[in-house]
Amino acid sequence: MKVMHNYPIHLNKVSKVYDTKFVETHALTDISLEIAKGDFMSISGPSGCGKSTLLSILGLLDRPTSGQYFIDGVDVSSLDYNGSAAIRNEKIGFVFQSFNLIDELDVFDNVALPLRYSSKSFSTNQVEDLVNTSLETVDMLHRKQHFPNQLSGGQQQRVAIARAIVHQPSILLVDEPTGNLDSKSGDAVMELLKSLNAKGATICMVTHDPEYAAAAKVKLKLQDGNIARDIAA
Ligand SMILES: Nc1ncnc2c1ncn2[C@@H]1O[C@H](COP(=O)(O)OP(=O)(O)OP(=O)(O)O)[C@@H](O)[C@H]1O
Ligand SMILES: [Mg+2]
Repeated sequence: MKVMHNYPIHLNKVSKVYDTKFVETHALTDISLEIAKGDFMSISGPSGCGKSTLLSILGLLDRPTSGQYFIDGVDVSSLDYNGSAAIRNEKIGFVFQSFNLIDELDVFDNVALPLRYSSKSFSTNQVEDLVNTSLETVDMLHRKQHFPNQLSGGQQQRVAIARAIVHQPSILLVDEPTGNLDSKSGDAVMELLKSLNAKGATICMVTHDPEYAAAAKVKLKLQDGNIARDIAA
């Protein structure tokens, strides 16, 4: 096993083939990349080029058809369901494009979810502290008793980010964080991600927006499941 401890994320020739009834889709082909600790990487490219597939694999929400994926030097590509859930809960925060907040839970309980699903057990006081700190980071503490449908799109996205960071993951994966937002809210979300990155989070962000993509330290461009361009600025 090849071990790369200095890189939280290391992909070695990762491919993903979706096999549906009539067609085989090669969503990713032989993707090899390393993301260093504290990096901010943007992933961009045309619709259908494999961005969300790549992010799902990085987030252990899906697994490669072939190739290896190492997190902090550990090969996670062949872990079973429980094994990947444990690593995901400990190390990864995921922000979905569509927020994915739970309508029936208020802001506080939405943000507390990763703590309640964690294998570590948190006391009520610890949950309270971590959720409050996380909501403060995204400037949403004053809305902790609101429900998602009582918030603006930008506010919901900030709550989704608070939920993704509440368990203090080392890796933050974000799919189109600004896609559903006006430019002012989009800018605010980008500033928030940059400040989380400045505090040490390793971030991978899928974006269609060339300006936001350009703001990342490492820019990954996908084309038909291949790396088109990979420039470290
Ligand atoms: N569950 C699935 N089953 C079959 N094919 C899939 C599945 N998910 C994605 N695909 C196919 O894999 C390819 C890559 O899809 P993916 O969602 O990663 O693209 P994307 O770059 O995120 O696109 P967009 O910018 O539109 O979100 C597409 O051709 C898509 O149709
Ligand atoms: Mg997508």
